Amino acid sequence: MDLDQRLDYLKKVTKLSKHDINILRDPASFSFLNADRMIENAIGVYSLPLGIATNFVVNSKSYLVPMATEEPSVIAAASKGAKVAKNSGGFSAECPKSLMIGQVQLVSLPISPITARLRIEANKKEILRIANSKSRSVVAKSFRVRELVDKSQNKMGKILLLELLVDTKDAMGANAINSMCETISSKIERLTGGRAVLRILSNYATSRLVKCRAIFSKDDIGGKDIVENILYAYSLAYTDVYRAVTHNKGIMNGIDAAALAAGQDIRAIEAAAHAYAAKDGTYRSLTKWYKSGNGDLAGELELPIAVGIVGGAASVHPISKIGLKILGVKSAKELSMVLSAVGLAQNLAALRALASEGIQRGHMRLHAKNIAYTAGCRGNQIDLVAKKMSEENSVSVTRAREILSSLGAKRLDARHNNSS
Ligand code: MEV
Repeated sequence: MDLDQRLDYLKKVTKLSKHDINILRDPASFSFLNADRMIENAIGVYSLPLGIATNFVVNSKSYLVPMATEEPSVIAAASKGAKVAKNSGGFSAECPKSLMIGQVQLVSLPISPITARLRIEANKKEILRIANSKSRSVVAKSFRVRELVDKSQNKMGKILLLELLVDTKDAMGANAINSMCETISSKIERLTGGRAVLRILSNYATSRLVKCRAIFSKDDIGGKDIVENILYAYSLAYTDVYRAVTHNKGIMNGIDAAALAAGQDIRAIEAAAHAYAAKDGTYRSLTKWYKSGNGDLAGELELPIAVGIVGGAASVHPISKIGLKILGVKSAKELSMVLSAVGLAQNLAALRALASEGIQRGHMRLHAKNIAYTAGCRGNQIDLVAKKMSEENSVSVTRAREILSSLGAKRLDARHNNSS
């Protein structure tokens, strides 16, 4: 499809309005004024390409997944991985809980930590009432108290940590949780005589875990030798941190791009994902790969994903709103399940390419237009030069310049022949 056909198709199959389509078409739809409202010292708007990954079926529902990324081949790879999964029934995902933690750190206690803890626990109802007094949808359900000893070189002594357990429902929850922590801290100080220092959510959202599984038929990914190679690739990613980081970077290529298009805080998602990858003390692959009974490849991805469909950038950024509309998700949990499927598809596609021809051929083919542009091509020269480089399997700025100048030479010849 060309650009217009893509937008027409989206209009037909999603709930996007004519106005939404006009926003997508107009590079100035996210204005300088919008930017100035969102951040400090704004000096402009930084745009990224927005594309659509196709073929996603998660828990039997089909999705078009908007992805914002500057990296060629990410969207093609996600779509390819999703297509292979679709042939075996798609992805099945679960996200049972939407709980997040807010931490209040108490120091300089004049009483024993045990007494402080008992006082806090005796006032549980009141503390939760105060925490929930300003929040309408996000709910503090409970809390726990932990005693810690500073392990840094500064030896700052004992820490009493109150951790609010908050049901974030359809919000990411950061603002609500931070407000709750700040609101309850003076009560906790009065109860214990200690001093509240940090009052902030934890982005390590281990009670917002998402699990996603899929089967990838051996025939669809190139046969049993490729399956075998993918298992070798996984063994390296599980065992060696230098490979694990790159393996997980590939997973996050997909999750970040889709999360960004839906207006999510991708730094929060990244931080939690990498901490989870090191949950057993060693940084490992976030996915697990194994052979199913009949020799097909089975993949699983489990990670915390804290996202929201209400509040945050998702509610103010015009393109994020469109991203969410295209996805058609009805809850934050549903969004996190789709994101986990994108991560799994992305990993499968990367491993399949790495375990066979390598990624450079496809990557450079998709990158060829950028290279042609860098070499000075403009207008239809870009497609002509990119196509020629791909056919020759030689994609570089030098080659693009050679082809470009030969095009120029041909044009000159043609003009010369016409005039003589
Ligand atoms: C490139 O952006 C991502 C990969 O390096 C991921 C991987 O090696 O698994 C291809």
